[in-house]
Amino acid sequence: SQKRLTPTQIAAMKGGKPIVCLTAYTTPMARLLDEHCDLLLVGDSLGMVLYGMETTIGVTLDMMIAHGKAVMRGVANACVVVDMPFGSYQESKETAFRNAVRIMQETGCDAVKLEGGEEMAETIAFLTKRGIPVLGHIGLMPQLVHTAGGYRSVGHSEHETSKIRRDAHAIGGSGAFAVVVEGTVEPLAREITASIHIPTIGIGASSACDGQILVSDDILGLFNDFKPRFVKRYDELGKRVADAAASYAEEVRARKFPAAEHTFKRRS
Ligand code: KIV
Ligand code: NA
Repeated sequence: SQKRLTPTQIAAMKGGKPIVCLTAYTTPMARLLDEHCDLLLVGDSLGMVLYGMETTIGVTLDMMIAHGKAVMRGVANACVVVDMPFGSYQESKETAFRNAVRIMQETGCDAVKLEGGEEMAETIAFLTKRGIPVLGHIGLMPQLVHTAGGYRSVGHSEHETSKIRRDAHAIGGSGAFAVVVEGTVEPLAREITASIHIPTIGIGASSACDGQILVSDDILGLFNDFKPRFVKRYDELGKRVADAAASYAEEVRARKFPAAEHTFKRRS
């Protein structure tokens, strides 16, 4: 039987066929997505998508580990990466290492992801040199929502552009096997992709990246609180769930469900 793709194999896809990535938070969804994806991310977006939080700030290490375990039970092919949540890696590289070890040991996943540019390059080097594969995340960084003053696409000003350029080069040289580039204007995403030696995985960062990632619930129409410009809807499952619930409710109230075929009869 085939083994999961490794972070090393993902890194080797630089400049080749686009790397296909989606988020997964549960076993059944992981099973459905696995054969179509190179990489599945257990994203801390689950705080908003599954738990109704307004930001990802409230997501804990225990939540990430629980969902990481669930996803691992459903995956045979894709490389599985688990997000390090807010507060689990920023304090020191030693704390980051300890918490990344918990994620790797308790879930059995292939790598961790953490947000940050220049500021986090040393931490990523510390982890990767000690055996923990790391996926970087630059550009729009949702865990910085409170200091950034909201969620806005980046790379518009010259000041922002030079900061993100420095971030890309710092992460490119940190030992990270690839880097997520979020909410970044096309010319900058293209320039970064051409100038660093690890794959860029874009989300709202144009077609120039080496791969793409989106939140599965967004493309399926299951998460409808808001729709960022970079999301494409491939289905409207939220509407289909509501329609199914309405049909069930109507049939129960009309005593049409359960019918004879759903009913146990005495055997004798
Ligand atoms: O948490 C998440 O889902 C993410 C991405 C979509 C990159 O970090
Ligand atoms: Na995330």
